[in-house]
Amino acid sequence: MPKTFFIRTYGCQMNVADSNRILQSLLHAGCIPCDTPSAADIIIINTCTVRQHAEDRAFSFAGGLKNLKKKNKNLKIYLVGCAVSVRGELIKKRFPFIDYIIPAYEVEKFAGSLAENNRQTNKKFFDEFVTISRGCSNYCSYCIVPYARGEEVCRKYADIQREIKQRAAAGNSKITFLGQNVNSYKAPDCKADFADILNETAGLKDIEKVSFLTSHPKDLSDKIISVIAKNKKISREIHLAMQSGSDRILGLMNRQYTASYYLELVGKMRREIKGLTITTDIIVGFPSETEEDFRQTLDLVKKARFRSAFTFKYSPREGTASFLLKDDIPVDVKKERLSRLNTLLEMH
Ligand code: 5AD
Ligand code: SF4
Repeated sequence: MPKTFFIRTYGCQMNVADSNRILQSLLHAGCIPCDTPSAADIIIINTCTVRQHAEDRAFSFAGGLKNLKKKNKNLKIYLVGCAVSVRGELIKKRFPFIDYIIPAYEVEKFAGSLAENNRQTNKKFFDEFVTISRGCSNYCSYCIVPYARGEEVCRKYADIQREIKQRAAAGNSKITFLGQNVNSYKAPDCKADFADILNETAGLKDIEKVSFLTSHPKDLSDKIISVIAKNKKISREIHLAMQSGSDRILGLMNRQYTASYYLELVGKMRREIKGLTITTDIIVGFPSETEEDFRQTLDLVKKARFRSAFTFKYSPREGTASFLLKDDIPVDVKKERLSRLNTLLEMH
């Protein structure tokens, strides 16, 4: 009998892409997806640790599987992803019934080994995501990603090109490039940068739509802007995390830009790219954030005119640089700022 599997994914598009890769490998292996954990022989939990809340949700789901393990002796549970990278030891202690733990930086290899061990079928797989780089070397002071996923490693341009052509030939007309910071892509095997990837992909006749996630403002070059402006196939919805409107807080966050740089960048993009909409990420209650700092965030939000935003209360992550700063904004103040920010975003 073929084995059944259930995958639960927390966190960002990188995790969604990793889970897709695991899904693909399990399908290749002849396994069958099922709708509930209780019907599964294999359960994969792809975890997130970017904020405490995300980690708690993944771990509480994992904790709830203990009884299933008693009922089904053949059940194998895999805990994978970013929370595993940074909490491996804690997981072993807290969840001794979990069979395998695989950190985020090994998920790709793991997915590959699943498919190799059990190659039975060869289904065509539709997936719009093409990962162009893994990890991140920006070290924003609040962010766990460089530790959970490792430093940025760019894939070879030739490999990316081959993958895009395969996808296009298989009938995928939409491609979404993924990386923690796609704009900083530099090919290890030639001179190509992210603008070249966009330009070439948009030039393929089978490709109708090209999107990408996610962009760091400091690396969004004029070359990238003009390639987007020229190519109608490239999405006009761009996600550009702003994080704060206070230069002092942006400095403490190690974001490497100022509020006026961000605003000028947005202005330039709007002038050049017709029909552009911008979404963003904002953190409130970073250590030492004053009412005045927060007002500057509100001010930048008003000027930048976002389509929508993901807004977060600062969550201290052990191992990051800002973990060493005192988390001194009381939770009530964080909540109050978050609600004022969300009200403003709804109005604009
Ligand atoms: N606390 C709050 N928000 C965070 N983010 C990343 N790390 C933290 C943290 N420690 C937010 C940032 C990032 C988004 C994916 O998550 O806004 O852009
Ligand atoms: Fe984290 Fe900053 Fe890298 Fe984004 S750019 S993943 S916020 S370190």
